[in-house]
Amino acid sequence: MVGLLTLESKLCESLIRQRLKTCWIGKTLKVVDECVSTNDIARIMAEDGAPHGLVVIAESQTAGRGRLGRPWFSPKGGIWLSILTRPPKWFHFLDSLPLVGALAIAKPLAEQWNIDAKVRWPNDVVVGRRKIGGVLVEAKARGNELDFAILGLGINANVETSKIGAISRTATSVLSILGKEVKREDLIPAILFEMERNFESLGGSADVDLEGLLTNLDGSRGSRVKVRTSGAELEGVVDSYEGLSRIRILTWDGITPVETNAVLSVDYQVD
Ligand code: BTN
Repeated sequence: MVGLLTLESKLCESLIRQRLKTCWIGKTLKVVDECVSTNDIARIMAEDGAPHGLVVIAESQTAGRGRLGRPWFSPKGGIWLSILTRPPKWFHFLDSLPLVGALAIAKPLAEQWNIDAKVRWPNDVVVGRRKIGGVLVEAKARGNELDFAILGLGINANVETSKIGAISRTATSVLSILGKEVKREDLIPAILFEMERNFESLGGSADVDLEGLLTNLDGSRGSRVKVRTSGAELEGVVDSYEGLSRIRILTWDGITPVETNAVLSVDYQVD
């Protein structure tokens, strides 16, 4: 039974370490059985001086959270992890990090697991219209300077979405799509490898064409969406991106650009 299998396949930390091909992400790695949120552990460790690139992974979270304070269902079998980043040069790109993180999830799912995964602004990974993963960026300032940023990545890997109830209409999982479990010890290193290259490319020291990748993996364009910002409520169709942190929405009044950091809520139409 699939439900029992998810409980049996516990994450193997040493396999993850062996398969990591990164230079700095995950060199300090902490795997825990259960926690409230991996972002909280990463923040506490960051305040204690943990290094840039720290990765915290949990088998399950008791109160995982998504963007805008929404709860994030995080049972055993999923991939729930946080990455700590410190270099100030990336902080100029803070508003791009949700999409850049989503690209690092969607690319290996598409290329190595043959799943039709796409990125949906501002931070979703979707298959069709159903969400399979998401990214939560939380940053801490010291005075006027940013001290660190934490990227929380959630992927519904070996999770049975039929059992999720309220979100089963809008969510999916690798298990549901492939009909079998994914080896998380392969998927996690693949995602962290892409994440590192994406980060380096933002800073100019690697050459991933992030905007090109976004064009290839985009799942937002043409979707009907309702967006609320502090100044406006828009309803329309996603038209195109402007860079990695701004989107253009086509409404009855024409094209309106929206900055990712101004967004209070985003709701895509579900069939
Ligand atoms: C979203 O789509 O709203 C973002 C979801 C982010 C979930 C991940 S799971 C690991 C990390 N810990 C959390 O509490 N949230 C993020």
